[in-house]
Amino acid sequence: MSTSSPVTPAALHARHVVRLTAGMPTSDGAGVKLTRLIGSPQQPPIDPFLMLDAFGTERPQDYIAGFPSHPHRGFETVTYMLAGRMRHRDNHGGEGLLVPGSVQWMTAGRGIVHSEMPEQIEGEMRGFQLWVNLPAKDKMQAPRYQDIAPERIPSVTFSGGEAKVIAGQFLGAEGPVSAVATQPFFIDVRLDAGAALDIPLQRGHSAFVHVFGGALVLPASGGETRVATGQLAVLSDGDGLALRAESAGARFIVVAGQPIREPVAWHGPFVMNTNEEIRQAIADYQAGKF
Ligand code: FE2
Repeated sequence: MSTSSPVTPAALHARHVVRLTAGMPTSDGAGVKLTRLIGSPQQPPIDPFLMLDAFGTERPQDYIAGFPSHPHRGFETVTYMLAGRMRHRDNHGGEGLLVPGSVQWMTAGRGIVHSEMPEQIEGEMRGFQLWVNLPAKDKMQAPRYQDIAPERIPSVTFSGGEAKVIAGQFLGAEGPVSAVATQPFFIDVRLDAGAALDIPLQRGHSAFVHVFGGALVLPASGGETRVATGQLAVLSDGDGLALRAESAGARFIVVAGQPIREPVAWHGPFVMNTNEEIRQAIADYQAGKF
């Protein structure tokens, strides 16, 4: 055991795996190869999470074309870089360089046009992009960035591993991402072989685990299930999650957030509530109003 979690056995209503998927190989932007873990035919959105892409390759031809200029309206894009560098530029004069370990939480709001281009020409490029929906009242807010350098992300160590706290609270640390409508929880965890961990999670919030190294054992209906590298586990509701690493250890993210429970009208990079709002988004973009 390895945790100072405040979850007590009496209060714990343990979450378990309700769905396990492997992700779908695809490409996006100008031909960047990636694996779509959420937002595919196999794994529809997990309100408020619309999409999760994992990119990871050492072949420059898989990433070098990047994501040239494209718009967004009505939601947030979260980029978490593990390896490699990505240059970000937008039509409002914003620019930044995502380096290994950094996070960009971008609230597109009423509209932004940006490019996301690899800064490197060789070596490994690895990371995630998560799309988080916004409630109707926030969809047309002014665009906002939280560009978070690696050193601003607290790392908590415990017996058997460590966790980087990107959003929400875990083991006394608070993630730097703030004032997001869906009250997200986002941690990146490394567990040693056989180590166990309890993770408190807000009841009522949607939650998932994605393993990107080694393997985990998670509770499942009537027993346990193995979650291997590359897989995504959607969790039932509850107060917390108890898990352990297999013999090779494990590296994984745990993400949770408050469901929005509103109609979703989704067309490419525009995510609104109605088709009329989508038509307006396309018209506004074509008229240069972003
Ligand atoms: Fe984008």
